[in-house]
Amino acid sequence: MVEENIGSIEPDFSLKGKLAIITGASMGIGKEIARAFAAAGAEIIVTARTESKLIELKEEVEKDGGKCHFLVNDITNINQIQDLADFIREKLSEEEKDLVLVNNAGFGFTKPVLEVTQEDFDLITSTHLRGTFFCCQKIGEIMLERGYGKIINLGSTWGYTTDAKKAPYCMAKAGIAHMSRAISTEWAPNGIRINTLAPTGTVTEFTQKTWESMPERAKGILSRIKLGRFAYPSDHLGAAIFLASSASDFITGQTIYVDGGFTAAG
Ligand SMILES: NC(=O)c1ccc[n+]([C@@H]2O[C@H](COP(=O)([O-])OP(=O)(O)OC[C@H]3O[C@@H](n4cnc5c(N)ncnc54)[C@H](OP(=O)(O)O)[C@@H]3O)[C@@H](O)[C@H]2O)c1
Repeated sequence: MVEENIGSIEPDFSLKGKLAIITGASMGIGKEIARAFAAAGAEIIVTARTESKLIELKEEVEKDGGKCHFLVNDITNINQIQDLADFIREKLSEEEKDLVLVNNAGFGFTKPVLEVTQEDFDLITSTHLRGTFFCCQKIGEIMLERGYGKIINLGSTWGYTTDAKKAPYCMAKAGIAHMSRAISTEWAPNGIRINTLAPTGTVTEFTQKTWESMPERAKGILSRIKLGRFAYPSDHLGAAIFLASSASDFITGQTIYVDGGFTAAG
C-alpha cells in the first residue's frame, strides 16, 4: 500500500509519478482531461478508435513537454480492453508509476422510447456498462496487484435525474455510478479508489450540433443549469485532477456532479 499523506495541511494535487489512462481521449471532455493530466505531471496513455486524432493529441502534449502514448482501442470489444491492459503492463515494466484510469469513452442519443432499436440499446450498454466494467476489471487488476489506484468513471447528471427521450442513456449513466459504488466497496480494502465524475450538458463538437438541431431541447436543459450556461470541458478538469490526485485519497464510491446546480434543482 502506498504511504498515505495523513496529517499534512498541504493537499497534493500534483499528478507527478502517475501513469494515467484516459479512454475516449480523441476529442471532447476526454481530450481536455488528458491534456490537463499531462500538464499536472502525469505520463498519459490515450485511447479511442480514431488514430489520426490520437496522433495529433500525442504531438500536442509532447510539444508542451509531456509524455504521451496512444493505443487505438474500441471499448465495446473485450479483447481490445485486454490489449490495453497488456499495453499498460508494458509501460509499467519500463518505470514504476501509480495508476489512474479515466473511463470516459462514450456517446449519447436522444430518441423516444418507441423508436429505440435493439442496436441502439446494445451499443449504449456495450459501451457504457460493459465497456466501463471490463476496463475497471482488466486495469483494476493491475492496480490490485500494486495496492493502489484511482478510477474515475464518467457519469452524467442524467444518471441522477431524467428527461424524455433519454431512457437508455439515463439507464447507462445511473448504472455506471452504481457500479462504481459497488466496486468501491469491494476494492477499498486493497487501496483502489473509484468515483464517478458526472457532468451536466457540456459544449463539445457533438453536443453543439445536437443542440443546434434541437434548440427547444437545448433551452430546456439550459433552464435547469442554475449557473446559467452550459459547461465546457475545462469545467471538469478541477474535479478530474482532484479525483486523480492524492488530495482525494479518502474519497471512494462517490459521485461528484459538475453541473452548475442542475441536480440541486431536481
Ligand atoms: N458532453 C456532454 O454534454 C456530456 C454530459 C455528461 C456526460 N458526458 C459523458 O462524458 C464522456 C465524454 O463525452 P464527450 O461529450 O466528450 O463526447 P465526445 O466529444 O463525443 O467524445 C467521445 C470520445 O469517446 C470515444 N469513443 C466513443 N465510443 C468509443 C468506443 N466504443 N471505444 C473507444 N472510444 C470511444 C470517441 O472517440 P472515437 O470516436 O475516435 O472512438 C471520443 O474520443 C462520455 O462518457 C459522455 O457520456 C458528456
